[in-house]
Amino acid sequence: MLTLEHISFDVQDEGGEKGIIKDLSLTLEDNKFIVITGPNGGGKSTLARLIAGVAKPTSGKIYFDGKDITDAGITERANLGISFAFQQPVRFKGVQVLDLLRLAAGKMNLSVADACRYLSEVGLCAKDYINREVNASLSGGELKRIEIATVLARGTKLSIFDEPEAGIDLWSFQNLIQVFEKMRNAIHDSSILIISHQERILDIADEIVVIADGKIRRQGPKEEILPELLGTSSAVDVCRNYEGGN
Ligand SMILES: Nc1ncnc2c1ncn2[C@@H]1O[C@H](COP(=O)(O)OP(=O)(O)O)[C@@H](O)[C@H]1O
Ligand SMILES: [Mg+2]
Repeated sequence: MLTLEHISFDVQDEGGEKGIIKDLSLTLEDNKFIVITGPNGGGKSTLARLIAGVAKPTSGKIYFDGKDITDAGITERANLGISFAFQQPVRFKGVQVLDLLRLAAGKMNLSVADACRYLSEVGLCAKDYINREVNASLSGGELKRIEIATVLARGTKLSIFDEPEAGIDLWSFQNLIQVFEKMRNAIHDSSILIISHQERILDIADEIVVIADGKIRRQGPKEEILPELLGTSSAVDVCRNYEGGN
């Protein structure tokens, strides 16, 4: 279980201090598929980075399974079972896709067949990619899918995906939905946190959290929140409406 207590994240800009996350408290229970949504710039990616340990909160506490991880770095959190797929994945020069999957799985003897299975799950023709270098020659969408495959290979307790749909074509998107549906059905002593604007992904959720302007606007079971989001022309419009009223 992950608990965020009164988390704030401030940055310095020309006008002085600017609050990106504002006194946000949130509990994510185990065995849940949680989707965070909300308008662009609302603080979703920042929140994911704070949970993964890529950024440190200005104030507040983060607990994972009762342990205070506020000061733990990315590696320590990864060892505790938190894994994170970035909205903009990182490229690694000189590292092949197979190496990356083996590193993620923590098994340098991960078989090529198993590695290929993860790539196939994210809609990549495995044999074309397994020995490719993770460099600038990969498109954004390919890189994104490779990154999602590494999170699958890791199979950790809390898997965080930041806008997995970004840069992915419609055909692969169908595959991806199936990947997430499978993950949802296989949840056992683990949870999945996805940041997404896609109705198909929101529809898989057990719980939906709407974030705007660094704060939680709504949180509840999908059955309650999704109809609200779909009540007007699009989820994004509803989220915009949340922006104004603090
Ligand atoms: N390190 C930073 N320095 C300055 N501004 C930042 C920083 N990190 C995030 N922001 C700003 O915080 C806001 C929220 O960003 P982000 O978390 O990426 O939103 P979302 O993922 O919901 O679109 C944006 O306006 C972004 O420009
Ligand atoms: Mg984002």
